[in-house]
Amino acid sequence: MTQSESTTTTTADPGDPSEAVVCTGLEYSFGQTKAVDGLDLTVRTGEVFGLLGPNGAGKTTAIRSITTLLPVPSGMVRVFGHDPAKRQMQVRRMLGYVPQQLSADGGLTGRENVSLFARVFDVPRRERAARVAQAIAAVDLTDAADRLAKTYSGGMVRRLELAQALVSAPRLLVLDEPTIGLDPIARTSVWECIDEVRAATGMTVLVTTHYMDEADQYCDRVALMHRGRIRALGTPEQLRTEVGEQLELAEPPTLDDVFRHFAGSGLANATENEGEFKDVSRTRRTASRVG
Ligand SMILES: Nc1ncnc2c1ncn2[C@@H]1O[C@H](COP(=O)(O)OP(=O)(O)OP(=O)(O)O)[C@@H](O)[C@H]1O
Ligand SMILES: [Mg+2]
Repeated sequence: MTQSESTTTTTADPGDPSEAVVCTGLEYSFGQTKAVDGLDLTVRTGEVFGLLGPNGAGKTTAIRSITTLLPVPSGMVRVFGHDPAKRQMQVRRMLGYVPQQLSADGGLTGRENVSLFARVFDVPRRERAARVAQAIAAVDLTDAADRLAKTYSGGMVRRLELAQALVSAPRLLVLDEPTIGLDPIARTSVWECIDEVRAATGMTVLVTTHYMDEADQYCDRVALMHRGRIRALGTPEQLRTEVGEQLELAEPPTLDDVFRHFAGSGLANATENEGEFKDVSRTRRTASRVG
């Protein structure tokens, strides 16, 4: 039995309430590609945690294991103390998830899309209409709620997806590149929506982004993931200071510099990877549908 297998079988505690997500030794492979390779990660309850890293680092794969969409073949994952493999529905009910790929149906109105999520996530029937309206208002789409989603701009689609994720009042909101392809104003408005809901509910946020300025501004802590595992972890300021000291820079580095420092060496290899076409085409698809 491997160490990670033994961890899976021996951990049965209800979890520390201060920990929203815990991953220990998480691994996931697609055929020969080890997408997640011994991921150790803790997201504290109430924080905004940014999972950063180059294309193909394994962020989406890790997130899909955390959100029950992929199994956990090796290692341990807990969401508020629950094992997603054994308590799939409990975990799903605690989660709001905005995937990297499109999750709204263009042939439905904004309100219908959000209602669908409310039904799927068991929002009580009597509360449903009010909760849907509340989620739509939280993302500032009330005026457009009864238009087909295919008539929305990219920023509106992303906000609609946010409303879909928020309608079940999740304890943990998981966002996979929520602002990809959006203009700076639309990006800010997505983050303002998240901030407002957080302030009102204390919800925990786990987010991936390639925009280092956003990570710097909005994340309490960030982790740099590269080739399937975490290479650096801390507050954006801690990481900037640490890299500035290591490189003996006169000026404090930006989070972009921190990203390059920890991930730069692997970018050449990442683009040789068999996943390259899929990564690029997926990103383009996402960007074009929202752009
Ligand atoms: N369904 C799949 N089938 C085969 N390989 C996959 C699949 N999904 C992901 N991979 C591979 O797993 C690795 C990690 O991919 P993942 O999508 O988790 O990366 P990521 O960090 O989210 O990247 P990005 O920033 O581009 O979204 C890549 O090499 C990718 O090609
Ligand atoms: Mg991804």
